[in-house]
Amino acid sequence: MKLTGIRSIEDLAKDGGLTNKRLFIRVDYNVPLDKKTGEITDDARIRESIPTIKLAVEAGAKVILASHLGRPKPGKHEGLSLEPCGARLSELTGYEVHLPDDCVGDAPKKVIQDLRAGQVCLLENLRFHEEEEKDDEAFARELSELCDVYVDDAFGAAHRAHASVHALPRMVRDRGAGLLLLRELRSLARLMDRPEKPYVAILGGAKVSDKIDVVESLLNVVDSLCIGGAMANTFLAALGKKVGLSKIEDDKLPLARTIMDKARNRGVNVLLPVDVLVANGLDSNVGSEVSVDAIPDGTMALDIGSKTIELFGKEIARAKTIFWNGPMGLFESAPFSRGTFEIARQMSRSEGFTVIGGGDSAAAVRKAGDDVAKGISHISTGGGASLELIEGRKLPGVEALRSNVAEEAS
Ligand code: 3PG
Ligand code: MG
Repeated sequence: MKLTGIRSIEDLAKDGGLTNKRLFIRVDYNVPLDKKTGEITDDARIRESIPTIKLAVEAGAKVILASHLGRPKPGKHEGLSLEPCGARLSELTGYEVHLPDDCVGDAPKKVIQDLRAGQVCLLENLRFHEEEEKDDEAFARELSELCDVYVDDAFGAAHRAHASVHALPRMVRDRGAGLLLLRELRSLARLMDRPEKPYVAILGGAKVSDKIDVVESLLNVVDSLCIGGAMANTFLAALGKKVGLSKIEDDKLPLARTIMDKARNRGVNVLLPVDVLVANGLDSNVGSEVSVDAIPDGTMALDIGSKTIELFGKEIARAKTIFWNGPMGLFESAPFSRGTFEIARQMSRSEGFTVIGGGDSAAAVRKAGDDVAKGISHISTGGGASLELIEGRKLPGVEALRSNVAEEAS
């Protein structure tokens, strides 16, 4: 991923370029919320957006923040207002954050008209309008009328060709990338551009199907691939092991075999769990450690076991480059969190270049403690986006920022 033709917010701010300008900053405040209380359970995406916002405020811009949150169904907005995110941003920065109750129409127009240089507003959830996900030109046009300059800092949403990250930037001549987006792109590029060897990838999470493309492209570059989490069950089943009630994707067994064959042909060492923690159900509060050759009927694997932690740990210890995406087990539940937290700690101790793809694994690392997170070279704010980037795909949100697409603009 080359960054040619993409201006940074610092470029745009030169010579008073942002002073008194209405600056639209697309952030990704799609943060996890507690199902019961609606509270923000991980505010990393809000924290990570602050350097760009500060720069804009100090440059004297009238700052218009916009984001999506969740996947609201048409007409169903309950619990998905960005208001709590605005409140958190305000707490973290001390800025007053104005909150119009929509992202287009009279409400934002009025608020933005009244904004003074250095003041901040946060538009309401972009996905309250179906046009956002449809990359709708007319909707993008309405957003474009709210601003003079456009900055994208929403790395987590850069793989979506949605109106606020794809149609909109091409309508604004003065556009560029925020500090977070640039940092993400540069860090992830280091994984693709001649990574230092040995290179180890650790993959977990629920589904093989979600990770298939990234596995394919990782097989071209990594020396070892450690597989944990529920997706490991499908691989174990493909090797003929009995996995009890463990979640597997029956239709992906041939695919798992193909992946293992390809890995063998390319000299990539695939490591699967050798032991797991099993329990009777997802709400069990205790697990017992068994070999993967002796998973009792009527039980399911919910975490990797001690020998597996050691096995993966040895790979981590000798690696110079490590990429991790997807938890090793049901880490949200304390009895099954050890594998995920241990992998986080071992990565943190590594002196190599360590990257964690966003989503659950990033949240897990932060949950493992500040000192653990500090030891990681880069914790991405984007799950899907970081995977697509590693697969070698172009991200629509990044492509739309290049200056050579200007002609398509209007
Ligand atoms: C994410 O959390 O992956 C991004 O914010 C994109 O959200 P989406 O997966 O609902 O498009
Ligand atoms: Mg997602």
